[in-house]
Amino acid sequence: MKGQLITLEGIDGSGKGTIAKHIAARLTEMMPERRLVLTAEPTTGQAGRILRAEMAKTCEEECEPSVARRMQELFLFMADHAHHLSETVLPALETGAIVLSDRYADSTAAYQGVTLRGIVPDPVSWIQNIYRPWNLMPDITLLLILDPHIALQRMQSRRGRQKFERLEFLRLVDDNFRRMAAFEPQRFVQIDAEKDEKKVADDAMDAILKLIGK
Ligand code: TYD
Repeated sequence: MKGQLITLEGIDGSGKGTIAKHIAARLTEMMPERRLVLTAEPTTGQAGRILRAEMAKTCEEECEPSVARRMQELFLFMADHAHHLSETVLPALETGAIVLSDRYADSTAAYQGVTLRGIVPDPVSWIQNIYRPWNLMPDITLLLILDPHIALQRMQSRRGRQKFERLEFLRLVDDNFRRMAAFEPQRFVQIDAEKDEKKVADDAMDAILKLIGK
C-alpha cells in the first residue's frame, strides 16, 4: 500500500471535526504535491444513511433500544465500514494518498462495545475479532481525550443527538477507547483535547509528521 491511513477517534464533543480541518489545511500547505483524502464514518453510503437517520431519532421515539436494534446497528456500522474500506480508503491508498478518516473501525469497537454489554461477552474484543480478518489497520490513530463532562458541555448547543449524549454512556465509551489505546500504544497517539484548538492541532501534527517523515 503506497499511501498512509490516519484515523481520528474520540468521544462525541471531543472536537475531531475541527481538528480534522486544521490538519487538512496544514498538510495541504506543507505538502501541496501529496494527495489528501478526507473521509469519515459513518459514510454517506447506503448503510451510513440508514445509521444517520436512526441516530437522528429523538429519545421520545426510542430511549432504550432492543437487543435486535443494537445488533442491527453494529452490523450496519460494519457494512458501512466495509463499503468505506473498499470504495474509498483502499483505492485512495493505492494512489499514494494520505487518507484522514474522522472515525473508523475503532469507533465501532468503542461505541458498540458499550451498546452490546450484557448481550455478548467482552463485546470490544468480540467486535475487534469480527473485523480483524478483513480490515486495514491505520498507520496511526489520533485519539482525542476529553473528560466526558466537558464534552457534554461543548455539545449542549447541538440538537437531535440525544442517543449518544448521555454522560454515563460517554464515560463507558471513553473507557473503551483508553483501554484500546493502552493495548496498542504503537498505533494510538493520545492527545489532550482539553487544550485550545491550536495546541491540539499542533500535537496532532507532531504525531503525523513523525509518521510521514517530513
Ligand atoms: P458523527 O456524525 O460522526 O459525529 P461526531 O462528529 O461527533 O463524531 O456521529 C457519529 C455517531 O455515531 C457518534 O455518536 C459515534 C457513533 N458511531 C458509533 O456508534 N459506531 C461507529 O462505528 C461509528 C463510526 C460512529
